[in-house]
Amino acid sequence: MIKDLWYKNAVIYSVHVGTYMDSNADGIGDFEGLARRLDYLHGLGVTCIWLGPFQKSPRRDDGYDISDFYQVDPCFGTLGDFVEFTNQAEQRGIRVMIDLVVNHTSDQHPWFQEARRDPASKFRDFYVWSDKKPENADEGMVFPGVQKTTWTRDPVAGKYYFHRFYDFQPDLNTENPLVLAEIRKIMGFWLELGVCGFRMDAMPFVISTKGPQPRHRLRYDMLRSFREFLQWRRGDAIILAEANVEPKNNLHYFGEDGDRLQMMFNFWVNQRVFYALATADIKPLVKALEQTRDRPDNAQWAHFLRNHDELDLGRLTEEQRQAVFDDMGPDKDMQLYNRGIRRRLGPMLRGDWRRLEMAYSLLFTLPGSPVIRYGDELGMGDDLTLPERNCARTPMQWSTEPLAGFTRSSKPVLPVIEQGPYGFHKINAADQRRDASSLLNWTERIIRMRKEVPEIGWGDFKVLDTGNDGVLALRYDWRNNAVVTIHNLRNESTEIQIRLADEKGRQLVNLLTQDHSQAHGRGVHTIVMEPYGYHWYRVGGLGYLLERSNE
Ligand code: GLC
Ligand code: CA
Repeated sequence: MIKDLWYKNAVIYSVHVGTYMDSNADGIGDFEGLARRLDYLHGLGVTCIWLGPFQKSPRRDDGYDISDFYQVDPCFGTLGDFVEFTNQAEQRGIRVMIDLVVNHTSDQHPWFQEARRDPASKFRDFYVWSDKKPENADEGMVFPGVQKTTWTRDPVAGKYYFHRFYDFQPDLNTENPLVLAEIRKIMGFWLELGVCGFRMDAMPFVISTKGPQPRHRLRYDMLRSFREFLQWRRGDAIILAEANVEPKNNLHYFGEDGDRLQMMFNFWVNQRVFYALATADIKPLVKALEQTRDRPDNAQWAHFLRNHDELDLGRLTEEQRQAVFDDMGPDKDMQLYNRGIRRRLGPMLRGDWRRLEMAYSLLFTLPGSPVIRYGDELGMGDDLTLPERNCARTPMQWSTEPLAGFTRSSKPVLPVIEQGPYGFHKINAADQRRDASSLLNWTERIIRMRKEVPEIGWGDFKVLDTGNDGVLALRYDWRNNAVVTIHNLRNESTEIQIRLADEKGRQLVNLLTQDHSQAHGRGVHTIVMEPYGYHWYRVGGLGYLLERSNE
C-alpha cells in the first residue's frame, strides 16, 4: 500500500469562510480573515481544512445554491484572496478541500435562466423537466416540514422542474454528458487553484437518474470517472462524499477494487455514536462499526460528531431516535425535519466538559479520519432563535472583544452568541488559549496524540470484550504495533477487564496519563474507568515503537 495516502490519517476541520473572521469590517467573514487565522489552525494541529461553499451565490441555503461556479462571492473576497489563502495554508502544510455542489444550481444561475427562457437552448437539458406535475411530486423531500414538494412549476418555461432540495435549487441533469463535462471543468478549475479535493455534496442524488418516471437508478460508474479525472489532473486529490446510505451500498461508492471514492462520511456510525452517548448502550455502535468495516485498503471513512447541518437520526429505529431526542434535544424547537437535532455539540452534551472530551476522544479513535467542526474545539453553543440549521452556524468566538472579535462591524452576517453560558464572554479562543486545562488546549493535545497513533487510520480494528455495554474498547494493529482505546460512556466509574492474548499485550502504556497497566493471570487487565473516562494505551510499551517495520 502506498504510504503517502494523506487522507488515511487526516484531521479535517470544517469551516465556513463567512462566519470565521471578518477582516474588512463589513460583518462577513472573508478569505483574508481566514488566512490570518491559519496560525491558530496550524497550532491546533489540523491537517486539512474543509471549506463550505464560497462561490457566487444568492446564499439562500448558506451558499449551497451557487450561481457561478468559477467566482468567489464578492462578499468573501476575490479569486486572488482565495489563492493567497490556499498558498498560505500550503506553507503551513495544511490542505484545503472545498465543497463541490453540483447536484443542483441556484435558480439564479445563468444556465437555469437560459434553460427556462429558451426551449432550444443547450441548457434546457441541463435540468429536469416535466409537462405536468408528476404523481410522486410530494415525496422524497430532503427538508420535510419546510420544503413542500420536489417539483415546482416555472411560469417562464411553462413546465415543472425537479428539485430534490429547496425550490430555488433546481437539480442538474447528470445524465446529460454536457453537464458531466461542466462538472469536470469545475473540478479542474479549483484543482489548478490549489485545492486537494472535494467534499461532494449530496452524492447519491448526483449519481441518480432523475425525471418524472417513478423508478430511478444510481449510476455508480460515474464515480469512477470522477476519480479518474481527478487523479489525472492531480494525483493526490480526493473526493469525500456526503452519502448517508445503508452499509450494504458502501462498496458501490468506494468501488470493490478501490477505484471509486477515496472517502465517505460515516453517517451510519455517526447516528449510533449519538445513540451511545445518549443511552450509554454501545451495542448498536459496535454493530455499526462491524457493518461498515469493509472498505478497500486505499479508501477511508470520515468520522464526525456534529456538522453544519442538523444531526440526522433518520437511520435509527423509532425508539433509538426518541432516546437521542429525549437526552439531547427534547424540545420540538431543537429538532428539525422530523428526523434530527439542530443543536451544537456543546449544549447537546449539556456543556459537561468531561463528556465533551470523552465524545471527542471517541471520535478521534474511530476507524477512519476525524472531521471536527469550527467552534466545537471551544465547546461553542447555538442560537435556537435562528431558523433551521443556522442556529449552529453563528460566528466563531475569538475573544471578549465586541462581537467576539469576529468583526468590527456592528452588523454581523449572523448574530454572535452573547448571552448565557455559551456567550462569547464565557467561551472564546483567547481565554481558552491561556488556560492549560481548556477544551481548546485539550483538543490540541488529543490531535497531537492522534497523529502519533497512525494505527487508527491504517490498522485493523477489533472490538474487545469488556463485559460492560457502557464501555467501548477497541484494539488497532498495524505493522507490529498496536493500541487499545477504551471509552466509558457512563457518568459512573466502573471496573472492566480486557484480555490481550499476545505476549506484548501484558503491558499497556497509557498515552495520556501516567496510569499504565500490567496484566495479571493470562493477559487480563483490570482497568478502572472514571465517569466518562477514556484511556489510550500503546500495547507492549513504547519500546515497540522502535521496532516499526519498514515493509
Ligand atoms: C447538503 C448540505 C446542506 C445543503 C444541501 C443542499 O446536504 O450539507 O447543507 O443544504 O446539501 O445543497
Ligand atoms: Ca468581510
